[in-house]
Amino acid sequence: MRAPRVRVRELRSPAEFAEASQAAKAAWGFPDLMVPPPPDMITATHSGGMTAGAFEGEALLGFVHAVPRTNLGQPAIHSHLLAVRPDAQRRGLSVLLKLYQREWCLGRRIGLVTWTYDPFMLRNARLNLVRLGAVVPVFLPDFYGKVGGIYGELPSDRFEAHWKLESPAVERAARGETSELTPEEAAALPVVKSGRRPASPRVLLPFPAKFPEVFRDDPAAGIAARRRFGRAAAALFAEGFEAVSVVERAAGPAYVLERCGA
Ligand SMILES: CC(C)(COP(=O)(O)OP(=O)(O)OC[C@H]1O[C@@H](n2cnc3c(N)ncnc32)[C@H](O)[C@@H]1OP(=O)(O)O)[C@@H](O)C(=O)NCCC(=O)NCCS
Repeated sequence: MRAPRVRVRELRSPAEFAEASQAAKAAWGFPDLMVPPPPDMITATHSGGMTAGAFEGEALLGFVHAVPRTNLGQPAIHSHLLAVRPDAQRRGLSVLLKLYQREWCLGRRIGLVTWTYDPFMLRNARLNLVRLGAVVPVFLPDFYGKVGGIYGELPSDRFEAHWKLESPAVERAARGETSELTPEEAAALPVVKSGRRPASPRVLLPFPAKFPEVFRDDPAAGIAARRRFGRAAAALFAEGFEAVSVVERAAGPAYVLERCGA
């Protein structure tokens, strides 16, 4: 449900960046060490990045922050942070912030936004792949090293989302049209087997439900699940697959991967 009184705009003052930093802390539940320092966000924004907030009156409910990205051979930004305060979540604000970011980029002839997220976070996977129409072609093992917070001792493995702003999938998503596999369609897809080259151009790659709580009492099982998943994902990406969607099945959630050009 959209919040009618919410307005998205770029941040204007150091005080607003400090508020954004606090919103990130509240959203992520991270230790202070991991909270983005306002001067870093101000510098990155000043240097061609962007930071926009969702405001209700003067209150900042959430924000998106990106740095310029120069190593992909095309105009791009890397969106480092997206956070919505816990008391303002599930109101569609993250989508509003990302769509603002898309318009900001298109107005500057930037056609690609990348960002990373934890592949075991179903909520983020749904937002990125289903609601926004991004695809994932890259796996980054233990990208940030140990981050603590909700991740405890788990390696900070990440998927890298590529948001191709003028692709048909993203154009549809920007209009609010999402396409998801039905449970029947998902059940018909082969589940990828570790160490085997997939014969099908479309496969399912399962991941654990209820992450990270499910591993709270058994970190070793969490690390093992991370390793298994990471090996399988890296092998599929090396074969030219991309994650294009995510499905929730009775057996647990799974990514839908397609061989590029399939
Ligand atoms: C992830 C986050 C930014 C989502 O913000 P939000 O404003 O609550 O999200 P929205 O209300 O815009 O929801 C957008 C979509 O995200 C997904 N989503 C968001 N919250 C969800 C939840 N609790 N459970 C399942 N899906 C969820 C859904 O696909 C939802 O679309 P839908 O409402 O049509 O089903 C917010 O929860 C947050 O700040 N989390 C901590 C930081 C973080 O994970 N950042 C994102 C890194 S990619």
